[in-house]
Amino acid sequence: KCMTHGIFFLFPMLCSLSAGVCVGSELSFLQQPSDVIAVRDRALMLDCQVQGEEPIMVTWRRNGVPLPVSPRVRVLQNGTLLIQNFQKRREGSDGDIGEYDCSAQNRFGLLVSRRARVYLASLPKFHTHPVSMNVNEGGVARFQCQINGVPEAQISWEKDRVLLDTQDSRYTLLPMGVLQVTGVRQVDAGVFRCVAANIANTRYSHEASLNVTGESYKEPVILSGPQNLTLTVHQTAILECIATGNPRPIVSWSRLDGRSIGVEGIQVLGTGNLMISDVSLQHSGVYVCAANRPGTRMRRTALGRLVVQAPPEFLQWPQSVSKPAGGSAVFTCVAQGVPEPHLIWLKNGKVLMPGHNIKLTNNNR
Ligand SMILES: *[C@@H]1O[C@H](CO)[C@@H](O)[C@H](O)[C@H]1NC(C)=O
Ligand SMILES: *[C@@H]1O[C@H](CO)[C@@H](O)[C@H](O)[C@H]1NC(C)=O
Ligand SMILES: *[C@@H]1O[C@H](CO)[C@@H](O)[C@H](O)[C@H]1NC(C)=O
Repeated sequence: KCMTHGIFFLFPMLCSLSAGVCVGSELSFLQQPSDVIAVRDRALMLDCQVQGEEPIMVTWRRNGVPLPVSPRVRVLQNGTLLIQNFQKRREGSDGDIGEYDCSAQNRFGLLVSRRARVYLASLPKFHTHPVSMNVNEGGVARFQCQINGVPEAQISWEKDRVLLDTQDSRYTLLPMGVLQVTGVRQVDAGVFRCVAANIANTRYSHEASLNVTGESYKEPVILSGPQNLTLTVHQTAILECIATGNPRPIVSWSRLDGRSIGVEGIQVLGTGNLMISDVSLQHSGVYVCAANRPGTRMRRTALGRLVVQAPPEFLQWPQSVSKPAGGSAVFTCVAQGVPEPHLIWLKNGKVLMPGHNIKLTNNNR
């Protein structure tokens, strides 16, 4: 059995150790527990469905320790773990939060599932509140609020305690709780705050005022440039760039290595934010946002690095074999991913260490 980063390939090695013939009696998972967010005081079920020769015994562990069975926490007939009234972390105890795995055993061997992380839904206080700004007429305003919700909070904005109309093209909402207002006018003056909501709670940020002042000449300035981002293939990258100045600067994007950004899946959000849909490994690189004063060479730049990762994927996995006693058996497992996956071998649910009759080669060390 071999696994990479939480994706397990399941394989009872017992067949290689007895000289018997393998029939359809090997254990395999039909369904393994997956990562989940639990809500306090509600019930949580984690599935574990196995096939193989009966009788099969399913047991559960939390953080590697067998779960004590109680009326509140029990294993159902079909292998599912039921936790009633999910408990939060308390002094001296983790409550029900942790990493869960299930094990299935029959007379042929023992199989351990992937580890499922169980989180508790929460919405702690804002750690970044919007800050008041004075903006020239025609300039840009930017507010940001940040909060660490589990699951991630939905963020909306209010102006003077009324939900902001985000259909207005001068307002751009970006991930990370950013609100951009471009082409600021007198009517935009007011008090802004954000509202964060998830299944655990709803919270309001402090208020920030936007004061609009008269027009005047201003050199271009990048109010906020792109952040370094690490994403997984197929996700969407949003690189922020908002520039202000009078006359309004022209924002453009390039790659530091000189390669073309291309056009497919590329969009501009608001006045200068770059959106790349369905990122692939080729999109990794350093991106440069430039703000030019129209008709001049005067410019400001800001850089951000985009790193695209690919989850591990098996190219080849171990096959069941029958061998006479005294012979040797070779199991092969090949996986790819960025960064390169680390492979671990398990036998009957236990990590396999190189020993007197076991050798691991290549990156299995
Ligand atoms: C197991 O049984 C419970 C209770 O009967 C049910 O709610 C759950 O969906 C079942 N799980 C699977 C994987 O069939
Ligand atoms: C904006 O204007 C209000 C009222 O005129 C004033 O109280 C506030 O201090 C100003 N904000 C900033 C950031 O200057
Ligand atoms: C982005 O990463 C580069 C190094 O790759 C670092 O020099 C720079 O400070 C980072 N920028 C931010 C905004 O964290």
